[in-house]
Amino acid sequence: MRFIPILRNSDRIRVFLVSATMILGALGSAHAASLPQIVHARQEHFRMLGRTAKSLRDQFGRRRLNWAAIGSDAQALDRLASELPSWFPPGSGQGHGVKTRARAVIWTNPQAFAQAAHMLLFRAQGLTRAAAHHDRRALMLNARALGHACGSCHSRFRAHSGWW
Ligand code: HEC
Repeated sequence: MRFIPILRNSDRIRVFLVSATMILGALGSAHAASLPQIVHARQEHFRMLGRTAKSLRDQFGRRRLNWAAIGSDAQALDRLASELPSWFPPGSGQGHGVKTRARAVIWTNPQAFAQAAHMLLFRAQGLTRAAAHHDRRALMLNARALGHACGSCHSRFRAHSGWW
């Protein structure tokens, strides 16, 4: 699902509406995801994000870059980054009795969190473009910046330990 190519105000509202619809949908369904399931799925998504970023970086050691493999990793990163905000429904952070490293500030400062998520998406899109143009320099630049986007979000929004 891709609903935030660029975070303009109208897009933020759309993100909110889409999330609200998904949450209501989840609550209404017979198999509503429980809070531990939501957190588990989120952590799985992040592990996938980590594996994909590593798979992309592992390509860089080659003398001849495999642009097709790089392009498919970049697109996967792009997709995951655009979905990331939907992994954080309200009430799924620390302080709700579930083991998670998602800090409460994600929901008390949603604008800053949306911005951090957007930085990741922006870099993933840069990687996708670089792969399409076989642009090695842009690839390296965006890959480095992607790493910073992970790190700067973690330092603000991810706690060191799980329960509080
Ligand atoms: C917008 C914020 C944000 C960005 C950007 C971000 N992360 Fe995270 N990440 C988090 C948060 C918050 C958690 C904690 C999730 C939880 O415990 O419920 C997390 C958790 C993780 C985890 C641990 C998952 C587990 O097993 O519990 C990994 C691995 C991870 N991120 C990798 C990455 C990588 C790699 C990138 C960049 C390509 C990245 N993240 C970008 C916010 C972010």
